[in-house]
Amino acid sequence: MTRPSLAVDLAGIRLKNPVLAASGTFGAGREASGFVDIARLGGLITKSMTLEPWKGKPTPRMCETPSGMLNAIGIQNRGVAHFISEDLPWLVRRKATVIASIAGNTVDEFAGVAARLAAAGGGIAGVEVNISCPNLEDRDNMFAHSEAATARVVSEVKRALPAVPLFAKLSPNVTSVGDIAAAAVAAGADGLSLINTVLGMAIDVNTRRPKLAGTVGGLSGPAIRPIAVRAVHEVHRAHPGVPIIGQGGISSAADALEMILAGATAVAVGTANFINPRSALEVAGGLSELMASHGAATVAELVGAVELVG
Ligand SMILES: Cc1cc2nc3c(=O)[nH]c(=O)nc-3n(C[C@H](O)[C@H](O)[C@H](O)COP(=O)(O)O)c2cc1C
Repeated sequence: MTRPSLAVDLAGIRLKNPVLAASGTFGAGREASGFVDIARLGGLITKSMTLEPWKGKPTPRMCETPSGMLNAIGIQNRGVAHFISEDLPWLVRRKATVIASIAGNTVDEFAGVAARLAAAGGGIAGVEVNISCPNLEDRDNMFAHSEAATARVVSEVKRALPAVPLFAKLSPNVTSVGDIAAAAVAAGADGLSLINTVLGMAIDVNTRRPKLAGTVGGLSGPAIRPIAVRAVHEVHRAHPGVPIIGQGGISSAADALEMILAGATAVAVGTANFINPRSALEVAGGLSELMASHGAATVAELVGAVELVG
């Protein structure tokens, strides 16, 4: 049998392989470039960027948990202007496939970042909208926890940046991720990205203090993979035509295949990058071998191909 093809079409973005680096775990690429040829990744989803630089939360911002980690970084970033003047030209020179992740505390902030990216005139293949941000106009409730707020952000970002596919990044911390997905798609999302981190908290029993200065944080890593697989499966069944970037606890080719069988067209590797920055490349290499053992010639034929019992 000929070698399987890893190439995928992700909402019109042609990826050489379906394995991306997840937002916030690979910076804007430079940080990892000593270990990884960025151009060999399926793509890089940047750290979320905001209209103005954000300082982030006080430290400690991370702690280890069983099979995972908690973080409360607070989207520390240097702002969209810095991304456009410094990071984007670097990424373009290295021929990276870039999905720009954007964030904000108001709908106007999201739209403002999108407008700046549109004015930059190219270099990005897509945009991921990180709606797991506190909405200052709604008592700090996360945008991603409300169908109406999700729809407003998606439609305003789409209006400001119509030229590239838009992925809405959904939160698992809701009763019905399917309802939020439906709102995002109806508002113009070309694809969905799921899941973001799961809300969690850890306490140091000696000091009786939270292990994170921000008290509550986002749980990531292998501990959340079954939550992600369930969410991707549910959303794919409800919206089979909508491409999904599946993420949450992927660190091996088998993990990536599991997410693809659940319904993801592409996957993103996050926490595993902190253990091994070459994880995404190694996952892609292993996926090719695994596909061959399944007799699959393309990734597309495996998307959503879980065989349900009964
Ligand atoms: C340290 C850290 C920082 C993150 N920062 C962002 C971010 O800026 N924007 C975002 O959308 N997701 C962010 N995430 C979430 C990841 O992109 C990913 O969705 C999540 O961690 C689940 O994947 P994983 O289990 O492979 O890490 C961050 C995750 C970690 C661990």
